[in-house]
Amino acid sequence: MELFNQLFARKIVPVVVLEQASSASDLAGALIDGGLPVAEVTFRTDAAEQAISIMATHPEMIVGAGTVLTVEQVKRAVGAGARYIVSPGTSRAVVEYCLSNSIPILPGAVTASEIMTLLDYGIDTVKFFPAGTNGGPGAIKALSAPFTSVRFVPTGGINAANINDYLSLPSVPAAGGSWMVNPQLIAAADFSR
Ligand code: 3PG
Repeated sequence: MELFNQLFARKIVPVVVLEQASSASDLAGALIDGGLPVAEVTFRTDAAEQAISIMATHPEMIVGAGTVLTVEQVKRAVGAGARYIVSPGTSRAVVEYCLSNSIPILPGAVTASEIMTLLDYGIDTVKFFPAGTNGGPGAIKALSAPFTSVRFVPTGGINAANINDYLSLPSVPAAGGSWMVNPQLIAAADFSR
């Protein structure tokens, strides 16, 4: 929980999809220079594990693994240096493995039933994904009425123009997305931009 509080203090969690692990160090440097030393490196590419291990060598960075679907990926991510795990949904196997190994886990939940499943595990901070197509800030506001203790970290369809619609909700400690780690800029090695 302490780690999530450090992470959420930044308010924005960059969701990173790296095709080449060779971009990881420059990207970590750019995020640190930009005052946003956090990253959720997604297991959507073969480069994820190596990218995590490179980014984690920067002591300022809080590096986690995203798009984690299996226990095997949790093990690889943590072995590479990921300090927290993010899943797009709720896998009981992933949640149970993380809880029994004291690994901070942010699982996805967008329905009342998914939230209640996680509350049964003692998890009250969830990823709300994909936020835009699941009702956006209005849906989070409505779910916050019965689930007064739950914190929602939305991602999916969030950008500079709409992020404050989410961050202005008391139940949203931070929001994430890929808009500030644009794949075209990374491919072009335009890290300063
Ligand atoms: C995620 O895994 O959180 C999302 O893919 C981020 O969504 P975005 O690319 O729409 O920001």
